[in-house]
Amino acid sequence: MSSRDHSCADLTVEEVNAGLDEKVDLAASAESNGEWEPLIVGFCCNWCSYAGADLAGINRFNYPANVRIIRVLCSGRVNPMFVVRALQRGADGVLVAGCHPGDCHYSTGNYYTRRRFHIVKRQLEYIGLEPERLQLHWISAAEGRKFADVVTDMTEQIIALGPNRRLRGSVL
Ligand code: FES
Repeated sequence: MSSRDHSCADLTVEEVNAGLDEKVDLAASAESNGEWEPLIVGFCCNWCSYAGADLAGINRFNYPANVRIIRVLCSGRVNPMFVVRALQRGADGVLVAGCHPGDCHYSTGNYYTRRRFHIVKRQLEYIGLEPERLQLHWISAAEGRKFADVVTDMTEQIIALGPNRRLRGSVL
């Protein structure tokens, strides 16, 4: 048993940030039983979207179990290379979720996210990645239903596209 005396919600900044590359590798590694299942790596900011995902669980909203969540302190912490890395290591899609504009815990983190996201998305589309594979959504801590709907829609879109073959295993 762990000797920690605080819950997961009380992770320190260092704990949340620790080994993000490794977390991406772990989340994007697909176990296969022969049948393809879409794998979505979801980066959720600690203060809104992660809590929204939690709320979806608490309320038992149904959504596909195809998303593996990585908690980041702010959506602005999502280095574009995490996105590329996830797609290279086996993810079929990447979801970035953060606080609504104006609500970022760090004031402007999600404004950087928004700008950065559009640049990365355009670059990935330029090399042939389908736009549905990379999505950005604003999900507050009170929007458990929205979180469930976003994951459901994204999973359906990726099932329609099939596996990500464009970037898997590639070196950019
Ligand atoms: S803290 Fe949620 S997007 Fe910045």
